[in-house]
Amino acid sequence: MIVLVAGSSGLLGRALVAELRAHGHQVRRLVRRDPAAGDEHRWNPPAGTIDEEALDDVDAVVNLCGSPMTPGRWSHARKQEMKDSRIEPTEVLAEAVAERGIATMVNASGIDYYGDTGSAVVDESAAGGSGFLAELTTHWEQATQAAERAGARVVRLRTGVVLSGHGGMLRYLTPLVRFGLGGRLGDGTQYVPWISLPDHAAATRFAVEQAAVRGPVNVVAPHPVTNTEFVRQLGARLHRPTPWFVPKQAMRLLLGPDAVEPILNSHNARPKALLDAGFTFRHEHLHQALAAVV
Ligand SMILES: NC(=O)c1ccc[n+]([C@@H]2O[C@H](COP(=O)([O-])OP(=O)(O)OC[C@H]3O[C@@H](n4cnc5c(N)ncnc54)[C@H](OP(=O)(O)O)[C@@H]3O)[C@@H](O)[C@H]2O)c1
Repeated sequence: MIVLVAGSSGLLGRALVAELRAHGHQVRRLVRRDPAAGDEHRWNPPAGTIDEEALDDVDAVVNLCGSPMTPGRWSHARKQEMKDSRIEPTEVLAEAVAERGIATMVNASGIDYYGDTGSAVVDESAAGGSGFLAELTTHWEQATQAAERAGARVVRLRTGVVLSGHGGMLRYLTPLVRFGLGGRLGDGTQYVPWISLPDHAAATRFAVEQAAVRGPVNVVAPHPVTNTEFVRQLGARLHRPTPWFVPKQAMRLLLGPDAVEPILNSHNARPKALLDAGFTFRHEHLHQALAAVV
């Protein structure tokens, strides 16, 4: 297949491009700067433009764009950038998919769609939640509507916490645990809906290839764990104790109510759509994923 990838320079994008190529697909990459390689094509999401030839004969578009949601205090400007960098590129790509009659659009989204769901088991049939990230994610998903209206197969990847040795959440947590500063965050009972980076790339390729996969897809491993258990297993992997804890209230004061959502919200999420469609995880259990990426 010919697959056009936006956000290909990111953590998830780089892994996906390698995964698609390893399985014989032809990949074109959209870039916001001058193209520097034969497979790169220019686009400008705020101006709504994409190099016309980038779209010729494309079978599927995958969109993995979005500015980082890194820990820290989130200012109004930063939150606006988080929204714009997701919703605008999605709208531009969905319009292109509709205009050019492209069969498939696979779009990034997040498990934050559900809001804080406590210990309840959540699959794709659950309703959208409340809070900054849940509302952002709902608008992000709605931005694919032009493609859906035009009859494209649209997949919305409700991705959990991606585990990689090269970025994402472990980039912040691993050094703390290595220095003996690891511990639970809040009361530690919140579920962490993790997935390994290799499984994320494989699941995204699966969504591109499988005509039966459409709509929301939880991209999480089948066995989420609580924050306490997550930190304990990371400590065990690094042979370090994890005795500390940071109280909820301290984190709220330090980071503000929105930036604590990805840390304190609980998602006991299950990958029902992927399992129903026959996807096989390489890393079903956390210890397997940590052994592969840490
Ligand atoms: N990593 C995770 O654990 C995780 C979990 C859930 C959801 N997601 C979502 O999956 C997507 C990719 O995540 P990632 O970890 O790969 O992120 P990343 O490493 O920060 O990469 C982000 C990508 O988005 C592009 N981008 C940033 N701002 C943009 C803008 N204003 N317009 C167009 N493109 C823009 C960047 O391209 P340039 O090179 O042009 O800057 C880059 O390729 C994000 O939307 C993220 O929210 C990630």
